Parts: sequence; C-alpha cells; structure tokens
Amino acid sequence: MSGEMSLFGSVLLALLLAGYLGQQYLPPPTPKVIGLDLGTTFCSVGVFHPGGGEVEVIADEQGRRSIPSAVAFTAAAVLAGHDAVDRADASPQNTVYDAKRFIGKLFEPEALERDSARYPFKVINNNGSAEFLISTNRTFAVSPEFVGSRLLLQMKKMAERRLGVAIQRAVISVPAEFDERQRNYTVRAANLAGLEILRVINEPTAAAMAYGLHKVDVFNVLVVDLGGGTLDVSLLNKQGGMFLTRAMAGNNKLGGQDFSQRLLQFTMERVRQEFGVAPTLKEDVHRLRQAVEAAKLNLTLQPSATIEVPLHLRAAEGPESPAPAPVLFRATIGRELFEELNEDLFQKILAPVETVLAEGHLAREDVDEIVLVGGSTRIPRIRRLIAEFFGKEPNTSVDPDLAVVTGVAIQAGIMGGSWPLQVSAIEIPNRHLRKTNFS
Ligand SMILES: *[C@@H]1O[C@H](CO)[C@@H](O)[C@H](O)[C@H]1NC(C)=O
Ligand SMILES: *[C@@H]1O[C@H](CO)[C@@H](O)[C@H](O)[C@H]1NC(C)=O
Ligand SMILES: *[C@@H]1O[C@H](CO)[C@@H](O)[C@H](O)[C@H]1NC(C)=O
Ligand SMILES: *[C@@H]1O[C@H](CO)[C@@H](O)[C@H](O)[C@H]1NC(C)=O
Ligand SMILES: *[C@@H]1O[C@H](CO)[C@@H](O)[C@H](O)[C@H]1NC(C)=O
Repeated sequence: MSGEMSLFGSVLLALLLAGYLGQQYLPPPTPKVIGLDLGTTFCSVGVFHPGGGEVEVIADEQGRRSIPSAVAFTAAAVLAGHDAVDRADASPQNTVYDAKRFIGKLFEPEALERDSARYPFKVINNNGSAEFLISTNRTFAVSPEFVGSRLLLQMKKMAERRLGVAIQRAVISVPAEFDERQRNYTVRAANLAGLEILRVINEPTAAAMAYGLHKVDVFNVLVVDLGGGTLDVSLLNKQGGMFLTRAMAGNNKLGGQDFSQRLLQFTMERVRQEFGVAPTLKEDVHRLRQAVEAAKLNLTLQPSATIEVPLHLRAAEGPESPAPAPVLFRATIGRELFEELNEDLFQKILAPVETVLAEGHLAREDVDEIVLVGGSTRIPRIRRLIAEFFGKEPNTSVDPDLAVVTGVAIQAGIMGGSWPLQVSAIEIPNRHLRKTNFS
C-alpha cells in the first residue's frame, strides 16, 4: 500500500516536474490577439510577444510596416494597400482612400457634396451615410466599412503569415472623438474581415500605452498627434490603471501637407525668378512637389537639403507654343528657411494645447508626460516648440508613426492574457466630451 503510494507520488512528482520544465523550456505561446491601427492614410498591425515582452509591428514581404489606407476596385479584383496605390494613377475614380473620414458618420447632403468634390472618386449619399460609387465593367456602391474591411483583412493576412496561425480576435483603435455609431461601424468593418473585436481603444490612450504610461505613476498625460492633414490634442487623466479623456481639441486643416505646400510655393517663386517663367505644366509642378516633399523629410535629420529637378518650362500651352526647353533647377534649402516659411503654422499647434489645458483646469506644469504621435512631430522645430511651452522634454522614443499600433498591440497582449496580471488598462468612456476645432 505504502509502496503504491510512493510510486504514485513519484509519478506525480515527475509529471509536475515535467510540466514545470516544459514551461521553462517550451517556446513562448504564439500571440492570438492582434492590435490594429486603421488610420486615415496608413494602417498597421502589431502583436505583443509574451516571451520577450516586446511589441512587433508586422512587416509585409517587402519589409514595410504599414500599408496605405487605399482600396482599388478592378473588374476582376479588389486590391488593398500598396497594390491599390499602384492602381491609383490608372484608375483614380475606382481607388478609394480616406474612407475613415466617412465611416459610421451621418451627413447633411450639402456637406457630403462639398466633401465629395475633393476626391477623384465619387461619393454618394445613401440616406445620410456616405457610399463610394465604383464603375468597372459594372457600376456598384461600396460602404466605408467595406473599404475598411479590405484593409483589415490585408493586415489579418499579414499577421497570419508572420505568426503561422489563424487569427480571429483583435483590439482596434479609433480617434478619441469617434461617437458610438462610428465605433460600431469600425467594429462592423472588422467583423466583415472575419475578426472579433475584444476592445476598441482611443488612439491617444494607445499612444500613452506605447510609452508604458499605464504602468507608471502619472496623472496627466497630453497627447499631440500631428499627421499629414490634421492635428489632434488630447488630455488624458490616469487613475490607477484607468485612462479618462478629459479634453480634446484640434485643427482639421493643419498638418505635414501644409508645411510642404509652403516650401513648394517658395520653390516655384524661385524658379520664376531664375528663369522668368513660373512652372505651370502639370508634370513640372508634380516633380517639384515630390522634390520638396523629399527635402522636407531630409531636413528633419540634416541642416540642409538640395533639390535638383528637370523642368520643361513653358509660358502658355497650345499647339503653336514652341517646344519646351528643358532646364535643370537646383536649390539648397536650409532647415532655418523651412522653419521661417512655416513659423506661423507651427505656432498654431499651441492653440488647441491651451484649450485642452483650460478645459481640464490644468496649468502647463501639471502635465506629467507629453506624448508626440504622427509623422509631422519629427520636425525638430515642432518638438522644440512643445518642449519650450511645457518646460520639459516630450516623449519621442517610439516611432511617431507606430506609437498607436504599438499601444494597441500592448492592449491586445493584455486581452490575450499574456500580460502580467497586475497590469491592466481600462478606458473610461467619456460620452459628453466635445472636441474644439480650430481651422
Ligand atoms: C466583369 O468582369 C469579370 C472579370 O473579368 C467577370 O467575371 C464578370 O462576369 C464581368 N461582369 C460583367 C457584368 O460583365
Ligand atoms: C433613413 O434614415 C433615417 C434616420 O437616420 C431612418 O429613420 C430611415 O428609416 C432611413 N430610411 C431608409 C430608407 O433607410
Ligand atoms: C452600437 O452597438 C451596440 C451593441 O451592438 C448597440 O447596443 C448600440 O445601439 C449601437 N449604437 C449605435 C449608435 O449604433
Ligand atoms: C535626402 O537624403 C537622401 C539620403 O541621404 C539623398 O539620397 C537624397 O538625395 C536627399 N534628398 C534631398 C532632396 O535632399
Ligand atoms: C517618457 O516616458 C517614460 C515612461 O515610460 C518616462 O520615464 C520618461 O521620463 C518620459 N520622458 C522622456 C523625455 O523620455
């Protein structure tokens, strides 16, 4: 009897030991919940690896860690991301972008017509909701959530290829200002892509989590998100592990493209002074715009950038105008010049910052951490402006284009149960909040 017991005991002990050793030496579990950032211009997907405790933003086969938020329709296929952008020149009327601006939103018919005039594709009104009219070998309407679903499906596939498992569950981020309907339609887009959404979190909260601010002792976090075309400023309040959005303000007509435009205007004027003719040909302006965009990006890292653009200057278009004489336009642009050209625009960033502080009844010294998100916050002058305003350095160590997806992936890790139990992050919905817009 006692012999049996001890045999049983040692088998049990061996089993326990094997389990323990297995836990120590087995590879860490594959993440099963993905984090999705469905952005207006770019989308990314990330996962939290419990083994190493780090976030991986998943790359495609070419190593690109985000895909453009564009979907193109052809007679034979629906293309998403880079493939859609490659089609855009051939068929701009069937390549939809900016769908996030329309998802789950109800419009007055006139507002929709005004918006629609800005796009090469057709936006139609379906009882207050926007739809996109596509004409391939047949004509049909698609909803913004369908467009979103194709982007989410693409990211689901990227994650599945990388992880080697089927993915069915995700966490997704939305702008803090999204109302319940916009959130519901974003979830619907994910459902159409075969994904169950475990939680919807606000983009500024995700950005704060990317810096680990859910784990440290901070109360007031200010998030500045400056992208290509819009500025969003949010004031978050954290109590324990819970984030509450206290105030929001922004400017939906301020961003990187405005800074590029100033540089383009300056460059066109320089061409006119040098050659006596302003560039009016579409291709000339297009080449200048590309050169100026590249120069702007370089000026973030270097004190000056040189542009060299071949131009076919021609005063007037028409059959009898002389064959255009090609010239080479060359200019060196210093960072200081770029800053001077844009100083008034940069100063506009502070207005919504002051508004959220006033609405949150906070002095600038009360802000514990400042988080910068969005590609345009790489501009050194903008970082300096914000640092000087608060008298402290903002958090910038995470790639500003990937801060949101990084935070969403951390939330996905928490939801997937791979995060240490004592750390959780909860967002308290703030239904009564309105966003102040400057523009
Ligand atoms: C449109 O083209 C697709 C693919 O080429 C074809 O399968 C489909 O039958 C065509 N539809 C019409 C209405 O011609
Ligand atoms: C149009 O929308 C309104 C409210 O948004 C709704 O009450 C109505 O039933 C809708 N009509 C149709 C035809 O879907
Ligand atoms: C959003 O979805 C929830 C759950 O499905 C539903 O109860 C709610 O009425 C929806 N709200 C809106 C505004 O569509
Ligand atoms: C930007 O930098 C890259 C690499 O350093 C260089 O190849 C390119 O010519 C630069 N462009 C401009 C406009 O300065
Ligand atoms: C950024 O955030 C971390 C919290 O993770 C904090 O410790 C650090 O001091 C912050 N500030 C800067 C300038 O990096």
